[in-house]
Amino acid sequence: MYLIRSTFYWLSGLLILPSLGIAQTVSEIPIETARTAMVLRVDADRHVTTVHLGKRLTQAADYARLPGNPRLYEGYSDLYSSAYTPAGSRSLLEPAVQATHVDGNPSLDLVYVRHETKPVRDGVTLTDVYLKDPQYPFEVTLHYQAYRNEDVIEQWSTIRHTEKKAIRLAHFASANLYLTAKDYYLTHFHGTHASEVRPEETKLTAGMKVLDSKLGTRAQLFQAPMFMLSMNQPAQEETGDVLAGTLAWSGNFQFAFELDPQHNLRLLAGMNPFASDYSLEPGKAFDTPALIYTFSNQGTGLASRNLQRWARKHRIPQGEGNRLTLLNNWEATYFDFDEPKLVGLFKEAKTLGVDLFLLDDGWFGNNHPRNDDFAGLGDWQANKKKLPHGIGYLVKEAEAAGVKFGIWVEPEMVNPKSDLYQKHPDWVIKLPNRPDAVFRHQQVLDLSNPAVQNFVYGVVDGLLTENPTLGYIKWDCNAVIYNAYSSVNPADHLYVDYVRGLYSVLEKLRAKHPAVPMMLCSGGGARVDYGALNYFTEFWPSDNTSPTERIFIQHNYSYFFPAIATCNHITAWGDFPMKFRTDVAMAGKMGYDIVVSKLSPADLAFSQQALKTYDRLKPVIWQGDQYRLQSPQNNDVSAMLFVSEKGDRAVWFSYLVSTRYKAGTDQPPIRLKGLQADRQYKIREINLAAGQKSPINSSLTYSGDFLMTVGLDPAVSGQRTSVVLEVAEAGSAGW
Ligand code: DGJ
Repeated sequence: MYLIRSTFYWLSGLLILPSLGIAQTVSEIPIETARTAMVLRVDADRHVTTVHLGKRLTQAADYARLPGNPRLYEGYSDLYSSAYTPAGSRSLLEPAVQATHVDGNPSLDLVYVRHETKPVRDGVTLTDVYLKDPQYPFEVTLHYQAYRNEDVIEQWSTIRHTEKKAIRLAHFASANLYLTAKDYYLTHFHGTHASEVRPEETKLTAGMKVLDSKLGTRAQLFQAPMFMLSMNQPAQEETGDVLAGTLAWSGNFQFAFELDPQHNLRLLAGMNPFASDYSLEPGKAFDTPALIYTFSNQGTGLASRNLQRWARKHRIPQGEGNRLTLLNNWEATYFDFDEPKLVGLFKEAKTLGVDLFLLDDGWFGNNHPRNDDFAGLGDWQANKKKLPHGIGYLVKEAEAAGVKFGIWVEPEMVNPKSDLYQKHPDWVIKLPNRPDAVFRHQQVLDLSNPAVQNFVYGVVDGLLTENPTLGYIKWDCNAVIYNAYSSVNPADHLYVDYVRGLYSVLEKLRAKHPAVPMMLCSGGGARVDYGALNYFTEFWPSDNTSPTERIFIQHNYSYFFPAIATCNHITAWGDFPMKFRTDVAMAGKMGYDIVVSKLSPADLAFSQQALKTYDRLKPVIWQGDQYRLQSPQNNDVSAMLFVSEKGDRAVWFSYLVSTRYKAGTDQPPIRLKGLQADRQYKIREINLAAGQKSPINSSLTYSGDFLMTVGLDPAVSGQRTSVVLEVAEAGSAGW
């Protein structure tokens, strides 16, 4: 510290950096959006600390008055609030970065060099803060991409050095945040197959709470890379300070929440350093994935609207574009189909009224036919027995029936019973001296190997190139990585290189096929993150398609992901009326996975009408602001509202989620949100089953003020287990 002081000095607010020949006035570095600010401070020793993460101050000059860390003790306590905590020197807390230099020195210090803020595009700025070790040619750049209108910050870091040989990185966080509050309540989302993203809220206590994954590929099976931190009180939907964050990374991740001795909260987020020491060559940049976060002073509701809007406008391909309704055959046929059966299903898809037919698992493999999940993965040739005329024929037949054709793939995986495994055992992730370990009877291909990347790319590119009108790809991923070891790339960082390999394949595919809709699937929702959603238009939240379960699952994903990307399929799971199944699926990107020919005439007619209604309502559901009016976690009736940006239209879904006696009846009215208080609205019930009469009087007019202050009872009951209401400004066309 004193050595640094003697090398660099301050002159009335002007920091002189003699070795770099730079003179720059530094004090605070504000990273601002319309309503929030993250403020860094360069202290007298040129360490960079976080002094604010919260509401933006109206007077920029006030940032200089932020107290920062008020109680500094002797020793290392000034590093508690480090913007990127280095390991091995004076910090004794969880590090953001840890490196061993070529000379064996295991320490780092990072001091400010300079920063710059530049526009990226309208409403988006990038602030880069350059840090350097005074003793070593080792640098870190902190990147903060701020999205003004959405109040979202995307933060990542770049590590590089020019030492003589490779150095070892043991920690490499994307972000190191610092928050000050009386108490911190952490909500995280965990589960397993068919019970994804169950929320749990915990008050953080002294010490460290770690959320992570070590599964490799189907990495989010048990823990999703997303969290909400509520300051001072348990999270509320409409009030209170909340930080919601999610890591854009489809592999192992780690969030460490550490309460420091002063009861401030340090957050370290990034790729999981577990079994991932990285040897970084001189001159090479090591980029971490981004932590995407938003701060809301109006509870979790505003936080999720910020993230959803950001995702639609800035992240998900065609986030403001169209989506196709579809009929998927997985739950309807499983592996049991052939050409005539499929051609019949295309006609049924047309009768139903969807845009596309999606052929799921089971269409490939010849020496090892994929007639169950024990064989065939890796052999991506159409099975000659089931599909003698190949995929091209199916595309043509579907189109002749009046629907587009889409197809399922799982190109990262291999069954030991496959030609691919026999031909390229070295392409498989496994340990040479351990028995093969399978998950769903399959293993993971080594995507750190460029030859495997080419193969995976070729599988999907081949399908799209040979069938230029192929309308949809469902990309599945069902196994975790066991026996993590790459025979061609035996370095320790397979977990990191795997995901990078996957992204490079997806990057190349998207460059060649920018428009094709692609569904992200991982045996349900075990890979839903904004790293993968750079490339995918939508995701499969869960294999659990029971509507009573989906109400919860969809609700929980909605904290981070928009409805347009959330695939909700109407299936035969559970014994529920078609209306209930449809009302639940409609609150997102609707699809079907049923045997259309088995529908009663009434259910078929209802579904045909529902698809037309959906077509009319989808702009509001997909692009509107989502308000969770009542949570299914602690109410008999859960309710969710989508409001158009102009506030002139809304769609309101209410579901009965309790089977207790009289549940749902005698409820107080539900207050709407997001409408214009001074405008007049009409409300009508839609998706009525045949013969059903609505108790909602559609001739009445309500002010927005009334609907938001007093509310309305949607009249959910044991006889009306789901209710969909359309809200429109009085005088709107079609009313
Ligand atoms: C898991 C997916 O989540 C399902 O939708 C289905 O595609 C199966 N895999 C097929 O094996």
